[in-house]
Amino acid sequence: MNLKTLDNLELEGKTVILRCDLNVPLDNNGKVTDLTKIKRHKTTIDELLDKKAKVLVISHLGRPKGKEIKKLSLNNISDEFVKVMNIKEITVLPYCGPEVIDSVLKDKKSGSITLMENIRFYPEEEENNQEFAKKLSKIADYFVNDAFSVSHRKHISTYTLSNLLPSYLGRSLELELNMLNKINENIDKPVMAIIGGSKISTKINLLSNLVKKVDYLVVGGAMANTFLLEKGFNIGGSLVEKDKLDIVKNVLQKAKENNCSIILPKEVVVSKSINSDEEAKNIDISKMVHDLAIFDVGEKTIEEICNTASICKTIFWNGPLGVYETPPFDNSTNMIGRTIAILTKANLVTSVVGGGDTVAALNNAELTGGFSYVSIAGGALVEWLEGKKLPGLLFLEN
Ligand code: 3PG
Repeated sequence: MNLKTLDNLELEGKTVILRCDLNVPLDNNGKVTDLTKIKRHKTTIDELLDKKAKVLVISHLGRPKGKEIKKLSLNNISDEFVKVMNIKEITVLPYCGPEVIDSVLKDKKSGSITLMENIRFYPEEEENNQEFAKKLSKIADYFVNDAFSVSHRKHISTYTLSNLLPSYLGRSLELELNMLNKINENIDKPVMAIIGGSKISTKINLLSNLVKKVDYLVVGGAMANTFLLEKGFNIGGSLVEKDKLDIVKNVLQKAKENNCSIILPKEVVVSKSINSDEEAKNIDISKMVHDLAIFDVGEKTIEEICNTASICKTIFWNGPLGVYETPPFDNSTNMIGRTIAILTKANLVTSVVGGGDTVAALNNAELTGGFSYVSIAGGALVEWLEGKKLPGLLFLEN
């Protein structure tokens, strides 16, 4: 693959459209709760400004589906952006068409930065409207993709612009590809994958693929409940996808054929509801009753996962194992995160963690620094690991 880096690009006075991923987690008051994603773009932005480009940053925030939603305005993150980038100011554009953006940029000096409003407020983005894309491309001389985490989307700002403009890799995307390629080329066995999160539907292909590649597959989060139900356990009032039982059966069968051991929660942390954490207790899954729900993996299973981690050489983790936002249901994620960080520091394993939620969960416990590589990508990383070609990276093949 031809890596089109920023190395020899002259940018003085040129206009660059830079695709970032500023899709940061927000609390109920719209306050940014984790800066990891913003920080990842600092190297690229510093370099573009040093090279005296006029930079138009494009990003999405959430999934507004073509509508303006105040809480998802990029105005809400602009203060944090300015602080992280250590710049004096940024022009934040209101929702407006490419012609207006063009005229604003014409008046800008070299080495300036402008933030376009949430690109997913524009219905054209996800529809991949060619007319709109052409108008947007006319504003700039170059397109720089710095968002691996959105490169699985075939949208204007992730894919179409790279067909319409000379396109380059941002430093964050370059680093991400280099690290992931290196790890993928030298996978030491035994390999363990830990997959959490709530929905099997978003991870079917990943699970089916992983059972062919890894020695141990830990399934946690609400996804594990559907596995437990398929195995005949009572899961009480826990979140479950009953229409996915056939898929689970298939994954279990494939795991058997490929000698992949699936580790499911044998002990679980249960409560009557997520808000009654004082009633939370650790029980054997066979003791489950109908008025309780599962919110985390239990102690014996944490021990089993940590013991298995200690005999592995490579660990990949995507998706929190419990409801990490609500202690004490963050316990398994924290305990297992701590063990993997210790094994990584001792050079006993290579550990890769991916996905916004997983990174936020491990940041909460100040553990991300302990992993070999932390990818901010969730869905994109999953698709990349499945071996799919990501639309946002296709320009590298031309
Ligand atoms: C992510 O958080 O994984 C990226 O920002 C992509 O977001 P999306 O799944 O809404 O496209």
